[in-house]
Amino acid sequence: MTGAPGPLEAELLDVALDAAAAAVDLIHTRRPASFAVRSKSSLTDMVTEMDTASEALIRSKIAERRPGDTVIGEEGGEDVGSDGGVTWWVDPIDGTTNYVYDHPGYNVSIAAGVGRRALVGVVADPTHGRTYAAVRGGGARCDDTPLVLGPPPPLEAALVATGFAYDPERRSRQGRVAGELVGRVRDLRRMGAAALDLCSVAAGRVDAYYEAGLSVWDLAAGALIAEEAGARLGALDGGPVRPDSVLVAHPELFEPLRELLLELGADRV
Ligand code: IPD
Ligand code: CA
Ligand code: CA
Repeated sequence: MTGAPGPLEAELLDVALDAAAAAVDLIHTRRPASFAVRSKSSLTDMVTEMDTASEALIRSKIAERRPGDTVIGEEGGEDVGSDGGVTWWVDPIDGTTNYVYDHPGYNVSIAAGVGRRALVGVVADPTHGRTYAAVRGGGARCDDTPLVLGPPPPLEAALVATGFAYDPERRSRQGRVAGELVGRVRDLRRMGAAALDLCSVAAGRVDAYYEAGLSVWDLAAGALIAEEAGARLGALDGGPVRPDSVLVAHPELFEPLRELLLELGADRV
């Protein structure tokens, strides 16, 4: 961190790190040999009993230390707190498809903030043994290493990550845009976990990331980590970033890539 966090931020960060570590222990260290899997919005949109158990554990960890807070989780919805101050955004397993296939990159994503503004974010990536964290105004880090974006490559040499929505027709449209984009940049990556894609921009493992159709729990922690590492975040229409329209890149790469994505129709998927 570049500065000491205030007392609220320090407490929220501690709770988030503790809850994420407990969830990683449950889903990764003690991964069962088999678990129940069912479909949600489409056949490709899966939820496992481990997603549900991870979210219940994270909620219990938050409630132990911050019983009056609001919690919004992917599997359990919104639990409005009695204090009305702090909100938590929880993705108990981001990258469930990766998790089901035991493919690297699934993660636990937890953010907390006031109003709609995240103050702390934690993304725990157990298959690579890394935990990313950020405090608003206090910088981002991966484990003990501060994250600071280096200079960007030109657009045609940029490695760009993206992701696809679960709706089959929408993901086909997104795939067509990606098919055009891959000829205009260095290469594409589809890693299967939005929160980690955002951290990968922060860590310089990709130069940029864009996706349409995320949810707030996908975005909250990773967006703060990317922003605190020096990335620019926004929507493709030029407005502030929102779950439905996400572009994250070095500030010098952001605008050329946004223009290219608009030319390719990425805002119309
Ligand atoms: C999904 C992953 C995926 C992204 C989807 C998300 P989930 O989250 O982050 O990479 O492309 O938009 O919904 O369902 O695995 O938590
Ligand atoms: Ca997710
Ligand atoms: Ca999830």
